[in-house]
Formats: sequence, structure tokens, C-alpha cells
Amino acid sequence: MSERPYIVGNWKMHGTRAMLAEARAIDRATERLMRAEVAIAPPFTLIHAVRKEAGLIAVGGQDCHPDESGAHTGDVSASMVKDAGGSFVILGHSERRQNHGEDSALIKRKMASAFETGLNVILCVGETAEQRDACKAREVVFQQLAESLAEVEAAPERLTIAYEPVWAIGTGRSASTDEIGDMHGALRSRLGEMLGMEGEDIRILYGGSVKAENVTEILAIENVDGALVGGASLSAESFLGIIIAAAAPDSEG
Ligand code: PGA
Repeated sequence: MSERPYIVGNWKMHGTRAMLAEARAIDRATERLMRAEVAIAPPFTLIHAVRKEAGLIAVGGQDCHPDESGAHTGDVSASMVKDAGGSFVILGHSERRQNHGEDSALIKRKMASAFETGLNVILCVGETAEQRDACKAREVVFQQLAESLAEVEAAPERLTIAYEPVWAIGTGRSASTDEIGDMHGALRSRLGEMLGMEGEDIRILYGGSVKAENVTEILAIENVDGALVGGASLSAESFLGIIIAAAAPDSEG
């Protein structure tokens, strides 16, 4: 597995061309921060422009439709993300599961399409506060993993898992180091059971209120290979604070 922490910014529905300056500043600075691997997932409308501005960081989409093309008003396919300059796609984010009713069967079809097209995938899994309170966090996350990954064929280096407890997203309240360590350890074992040795090579990111102040502690947890960052990725200043901490020599778990 790569020793470099993988730091991915998810801009969600933020960003017009005015934000290209942030992408440029992030890209320029990463030249001196090669110990971290950096990526941004801007809205679809900015993928091409960010790709043109930024030559070092990876650029990707936040979703894709399972079909290659067709009568699907408002949707964007994996091949369109690729054509715009994207190299990966985030799938199964809890905001898509909740706001667009996405289930694991659909996410699995999207994942198959992304892999076929040549995109890498960051698959998000995570439980709600109610599910955690009912001691069902692991069960929920394992089920999301099993249902979305079943029969999907891809080299392990092309798949990344992001554990994002729903209650930690955008709330300013990240999961505790114990909670993160427990879930990442469980995910690592589960991936091993599902995929054998290849499960070892799949990166597992943590997401949910990651910021410069807590990223060092989070990356030091065993089986944490990077971070998926929402709010704190929206300005070069705050995202670079995270990348600088991640690129420090002893930052990975
Ligand atoms: P947050 O979002 O960093 O704003 O909590 C993370 C995400 O949803 O990926």
C-alpha cells in the first residue's frame, strides 16, 4: 500500500470559476508537499477547468450515472467525467444516499461503470447517529460494503473506501480516535475476508469534520490511509493546512 496519505477534497455543490484560483494555489503548493497524494472533486461544471489549472493533483467527480449515455436528463456518465479530465469518482456519499435515495444496488452499478470506463472509485460508507446509538454501526457499514462490492471486479489500487459517519459530516464533530480506529480495523479485516491479500492494498480514508487541527491525530490511527475533506477543502488556505500536516514525515497510521 502507498505510504503517502491520500487527501481528497470534496467540494460538494460549491464552486464557480471564481474558485479556480483556490485549485491553482493548492496545485502549486503540492509541488513542495509530495509526501501527500492530493485530489479534488469539484462540481461537474468545474472538472475540465480544474484539470487545466492543476497539473499535479488528481481531479474527479462526485457521482456518475451507471449508463454510458442515454435519456437521463441532468445526469452525467463516467465516460463524461473521464472526458472532462477526471480520473476518479466518489460514489455512495451519504448525501447521495439520503437526498437522492441511492441504494447499494445502484451504487454497485455505478461502480461497475466507473471501473469499466477506467475511473478509480472512492466508495463512501457510514452509519447514522441512530444506527450508532443502536450499536448497529458495524453491521450497517459492512452491509453497505458487501452489497456495493459484490461481483465488482477491479484492481485493489483502483478502489478506495471512505468511512464517513453521517453524524460527523459537516457538524464540526469528528468521530473520536477510538471510534475511527475500531471501524477502520474492522473494515481492514472485512476487506481481507472478502478479497484476501488484495484487501490489504485498498486504502481506507476517514471523512467527517477533518481539519488542519485534527488531521495529524486522525492520520496517526492505524489503518487510516488518508482523509476525505468537505468544508475544509473549500479554500486553499484551510485545505493546505491539512495537506501540510499530512505531508509531515510521521503522519500515517
Ligand atoms: P466535512 O464533509 O469535511 O465537511 O465534514 C466530509 C464529506 O462529506 O466528505
